[in-house]
Parts: sequence; structure tokens; C-alpha cells
Amino acid sequence: MGELRGTHVPVLLERCLELLAPALARGDRTVHVDATLGLAGHAEAVLERHPHTVLIGLDRDTEALAHARVRLARFADRVHLEHAVYDELPEVLGRLGYPAIDGVLFDLGVSSLQLDAPDRGFAYAQDAPLDMRMDQTRGVTAEEVVNTYSHPDLARVLRVYGEEKFAPRIASAILRERERARITSSARLAELVRESIPAPARRTGGHPAKRTFQALRIEVNRELAALETALPAALDKLTVGGRMVVLSYHSLEDRLTKAALTDRVRSKGPVDLPVELPGSGPTFRLLSRGAELPGEAEVAANPRAASVRLRAAERIDPEAERQGRADRERPRRRVRAMHQPGTGSADPGPTAQGRTKRGREEEDER
Ligand SMILES: C[S@@+](CC[C@H](N)C(=O)[O-])C[C@H]1O[C@@H](n2cnc3c(N)ncnc32)[C@H](O)[C@@H]1O
Repeated sequence: MGELRGTHVPVLLERCLELLAPALARGDRTVHVDATLGLAGHAEAVLERHPHTVLIGLDRDTEALAHARVRLARFADRVHLEHAVYDELPEVLGRLGYPAIDGVLFDLGVSSLQLDAPDRGFAYAQDAPLDMRMDQTRGVTAEEVVNTYSHPDLARVLRVYGEEKFAPRIASAILRERERARITSSARLAELVRESIPAPARRTGGHPAKRTFQALRIEVNRELAALETALPAALDKLTVGGRMVVLSYHSLEDRLTKAALTDRVRSKGPVDLPVELPGSGPTFRLLSRGAELPGEAEVAANPRAASVRLRAAERIDPEAERQGRADRERPRRRVRAMHQPGTGSADPGPTAQGRTKRGREEEDER
């Protein structure tokens, strides 16, 4: 099998490597999970940069795994490649005997291999059978979704996963067409979508079928449900100092990522307590300020990067953090007490402290 290196540029590669480096370079045999191995562009760079790191690469697409295996052959003694959906990560780690990991990367969505394949049906610009399964060994195809879902179900899929405002019109056109003949090709579907959208709307927002194809792909592969389970499961497996990087390509993925990370960087203690209670403090800190966007040079070199949003976080030791914060607070409280004649107390009261803590959380979330 030939390597596909030339056709695929890993997105935000240098930034991903920079973010993962402190976690992977801190000892022998650190463990990195590439949850979306694809053509192994990111994985290869991690293995080159970290000669002692073990890589566990997951992909639900057997064709991607076969290409990755060729590309990573020279690292075979420290690579495990697994045919799995990323929400199966805990079971994969258990089977391989790795109770914890140091780094994890999610580079979501489809690969250039899948988009460019003439027979997979992911691209509205090419005529192909309506398949769209990332894992061609199981599951329902886009053809089955398009030809069997009810009008309300189709419209919901297009509206929610494609953020398509003409979802009911497109669903009606699909139902009319399938009474005439089964819809089996991506070109016919793209044509139907184009015809259902009012002419002025066709001229804005890229190809008119883009949102419908995204919606069907998400539905066929149950992408969001898998991601919602996989992110917390992967965060749970990171050691203290371990890091996660996520590259999302549409707002639904980015929203889930933000929610999973926000949950971990927030204090779970009462907001008006002056100090963090044991077990209630944040367990992660954000490494990215909001969602990081690609620079102009990145997009010019790699059009696939245009819609990327990067978020990253590091696992912290909540107890060390709690102690550190308490130590940092103590001298400040002493100084404040000295400047409050007549109070005789070093404690500025719950409200002020509560505000400090909330302020800290807001800072963390930005
Ligand atoms: C954007 S590509 C990854 C590209 C890769 N970072 C590289 O540098 O070559 C995404 C890959 O993730 C895989 N994938 C998507 N969703 C998945 C899931 N839920 N579980 C496992 N693999 C998944 C796809 O099959 C695809 O090969």
C-alpha cells in the first residue's frame, strides 16, 4: 500500500506538538493516545519528537489504520494501532495494560483519505454511493438514513447536526424524490438539496449541500454521542501533568469540547467559601485562551485548517493547587489585616473571598 503523505497536511501540527511536549518529554516511556489516528500525520511527528513515547493510535476506519501502519512501520516497537471508536478508549487501555496516559489528541472529523475517496460518499463534489460510514465494517449508511427516516427525523438531523435553516424543505424534497426512486448517489442528493434551497440563499455560505452532508455524516457515525462520552473518559485517564489537545471543525464539536473542559477547570465547592474544600477544586487548567484559531499562513498552506478550533488542558493535582493557593493567600491576608485598623482579623469575610474565587474561575474559563 502506498503512503498518502503528500496529500495530507496535519492541522496546527507545531502548536499541537508544543502543547503536548511538557507532558510527553518528562520521562521514559510516556504514553500518548492519538484518538483519531487518520493518516498518522500528528502521530508520526509525536513519535519523531519523543523517542521514548509509546503511541496508542485509534481509528474506526480500517483503511486509515492500514495506511497509518505503513507510515509508522519504523516505530513498530512502541506503537499500538487499534480498530476502535474513541469512546472505547478505557477498554483499549485496559486490554493493552496501560492504566493511565500522559497525552491525548483528538483531531475530529473526516480525513482527507475519506473525503477524497471516490467510493465513500463523504464529498458532495464527487458522485459516489451514499455510504459515509467511517467504519465500513458496521452500522447504517447515509443511503439508509436518506431513504428510510421520517420527515420529522430527517428535518431534525439536518437542522441540529447541519444547522441547516432550510431543513424541512430539504426533507420534503428527499421524501418526494424517494417516492419516485431510491436515492443512492451523492450527486443526486447534492442536486436535490441545491434545488430545495431558494436561489438567493444558494449564493451564500459555500456549497448548498455542505450542511446536509455534514449532518448526515454526523448521524451515520453517531459522532457527537461518541465524543460526549470519549472526552471525559480520556480526561479521567490522564496523569497529573498529562495534557489533552482537541481540534474541532464545527461548532457542535467545539461546544462539547468546551463543556467537557469547563467541567474540570471549575471549582465544585460553594462559591462563597474563602478556601477550596478538599476534593472540590479544579482538576485541570486550561492551556488555551478560549478556542484558538489558525493563523493566515496555516490556512493558506492547508485549507482544511480554515474552520479549526483548538482547545487544550492539563491535569493538575488539586491538593497541591489548594495548598499553593492557601499559601499564596496567607501573606496577602496578613497585609490586609494590618491595613484594617480595629478589625483585628485577618479574614476579610466570605463575600470578598467569594468574589476572589469567582474571579479566578472566570479567568480560568476565558
Ligand atoms: C481528521 S482525521 C485525523 C488526521 C490525523 N490527525 C493525521 O494527522 O493524519 C480524523 C480521523 O478520525 C477518525 N475518527 C473519527 N471519528 C472517530 C471515532 N469516533 N472513533 C475513532 N476514530 C474516529 C476518522 O476515521 C479519521 O480517520
